[in-house]
Amino acid sequence: MNAKAGISSHVLGNVGMFNPAPKQFALLKAALFAAALLPFARLVLFTFTDRLGANPIEFITRNTGDWTLYFLCITLAVTPLRRLSKWNWLLKLRRMIGLFAFFYATLHFTTFLWFDHFFDLQEMWKDVVKRPFITVGFIAFILLIPLAATSTNGMVRRLGGRRWQWLHRAIYIIAPLGILHFWWMKAGKHNFSQPILFGTIVRSCY
Ligand code: HEM
Repeated sequence: MNAKAGISSHVLGNVGMFNPAPKQFALLKAALFAAALLPFARLVLFTFTDRLGANPIEFITRNTGDWTLYFLCITLAVTPLRRLSKWNWLLKLRRMIGLFAFFYATLHFTTFLWFDHFFDLQEMWKDVVKRPFITVGFIAFILLIPLAATSTNGMVRRLGGRRWQWLHRAIYIIAPLGILHFWWMKAGKHNFSQPILFGTIVRSCY
């Protein structure tokens, strides 16, 4: 075995061995939960300290949209990461990460409904139908709802593993729709670098 192969198998070997004890896993999960709330805490802090800039609604809409996309990408990345690292316990974190995608998507949508349309559902609907990038974002959000609603252990049991898994594959449609929504929004300024980057990340998770 050459030196390089020796080093990589040594490193991968150690990676493979990392299997947290139940207490360590609980700590890790709590740390991840706290970290996932940081973007929300930052938004709240910025709101109360008047640091949202000249256009606060735009700031909140864009920030929550970004975090929805980040969490969708992280959710998708769990499966290939587990395969590469052999850290099977990563799967036990996927549901929580997915729920954070839904949490930020709900904030994103609520900002739109509240500040852009003052909860006027008819006006909101007109906007959703009229602007294709919003239509696509809306579809992605609607598709996320059944996934969030069936995320409890009780629902997994009620649906049965196979049907639950089939339903939750919708994430592979939702993430590209989120990217299309982002791409369409950026198309106005011919600025495609970020949507391409996220598209590449999502594509590599299939
Ligand atoms: C899974 C669902 C969604 C994802 C992943 C998502 C993601 C994003 C992203 C990444 C941005 C751009 C942020 C930036 O410029 O940095 C954005 C902007 C935006 N999204 Fe969404 N979005 C989703 C659903 C929705 C829904 C349901 C609506 C409303 C019905 C919506 C309305 C908007 C609007 C109005 C903007 C543009 C804000 C602006 O021009 O300043 N999005 N979204």
